[in-house]
Amino acid sequence: MRYTPLTAATYREHRARFRQQMEKGGLAIFHSNDVMPTSADGHLPFKQATDILHLTGIDQEETVLLLFPDAVEAKDREILFVRETNEHIAIWEGAKFTQKEASDLSGIATVLWTSTYEATVKRLMPQAEILYLNSNEHLRQGNEVETREERMNKVLRERYPLHELKRSAPIMHRIRSLKTTEEVAQMRKAVAITGKAFQRVCSFIKPGVKEYEIEAEITHEFLRNGSRGHAYTPIIASGYSACVLHYITNDQVCQDGDVILMDFGCEYGGYASDLTRCLPVNGRFTDRQRAVYNSVLRVKNEATALLRPGTLLAEYHKEVGRIMESELIGLGLLDKTDVKNQDPEKPLYKKYFMHGTSHFLGLDVHDVGLWNEPIAEGMVFTVEPGIYIREEKLGIRLENDVLVTNGAPDDLFKEIPVEAEAVEELMNRKWVEA
Ligand code: GLY
Ligand code: MN
Ligand code: MN
Repeated sequence: MRYTPLTAATYREHRARFRQQMEKGGLAIFHSNDVMPTSADGHLPFKQATDILHLTGIDQEETVLLLFPDAVEAKDREILFVRETNEHIAIWEGAKFTQKEASDLSGIATVLWTSTYEATVKRLMPQAEILYLNSNEHLRQGNEVETREERMNKVLRERYPLHELKRSAPIMHRIRSLKTTEEVAQMRKAVAITGKAFQRVCSFIKPGVKEYEIEAEITHEFLRNGSRGHAYTPIIASGYSACVLHYITNDQVCQDGDVILMDFGCEYGGYASDLTRCLPVNGRFTDRQRAVYNSVLRVKNEATALLRPGTLLAEYHKEVGRIMESELIGLGLLDKTDVKNQDPEKPLYKKYFMHGTSHFLGLDVHDVGLWNEPIAEGMVFTVEPGIYIREEKLGIRLENDVLVTNGAPDDLFKEIPVEAEAVEELMNRKWVEA
């Protein structure tokens, strides 16, 4: 394995948290993702479904988890199904989990081959009252492709139409939004690698360098540190492209006088990091670029300080909007009177800052979480205000990842330079590979 997984004790804790929210007689089933085909005999690299990964640590296709706390026999209360391995698979694909390895990693005593899943469910369903099925209830999900979980859920609903049905997703959103100690430690590792990659590229950037060359430097640093790669497609956007929020072609040449926006983060052990930094391509911001940069930085710092337990995310976002409003007035981009008379449903700042300030971060970069409940200790958010001025071909976003604590918010990227002068200095320093 490239990375050290969480301990079995933590996976046990994650399952215990799920069980605490189940009703009596409940039986919950979680499935892996499919291995997605490309064409001919090709397929994409396997990406595990994050819920089953959170509950078991098993990053392997065809894995199923069954939780049935009220099963008559103790051995049936937690069952992990893994793909049966054999010599042929070992020769062609490499080793898969043995039952013992899967048990040691997940902390689940009963590990069976996936081929016995249907018969086991058939045996246990008569003992159950409620069937908990999982689904993707992410606020922004919009997949056309049916997942393995959805396919398996259809079969279960057809076979057992008289059992009461309940949704596992709200429970998963609750437990995944409050990170356990080892999850935070894993996220710190992801953050550290991403920070190294940032420092690596600082002295690499100069006029004439291509955006994809910068991407390659970042990818190199990720892989050599045990990350499997990017947690999301990186945005390496110089000049006007920084105003295109989801720019991912990364194929332009960096020009003297432009600012480059880089939004990237590595995945480590399944956990995402998410960083954005902006640099002057020639090593020195113009006065105007610096003024816009410092506005964004002030908003970022003030927003970070607002991430306190008890605050509602909707209120937080409104407050950050007010801070941004006054910065945009200071930059001469908005007029004070116009702002006073604006429609509160359509605040004028959205012309220059059109996305949210924060999202949950975890196993998914836009992680699931409790959007309508007060912020709580243990949640991890990004803080990523931006100002995008298309007419000036200038887009600045600064993004750090922040752990909510009972005291001051803990900025996981606090070691990574963000002040305009500090990043200019980094650009002039020679990077020495560690
Ligand atoms: N990189 C994705 C985001 O910042 O939300
Ligand atoms: Mn980002
Ligand atoms: Mn983000």
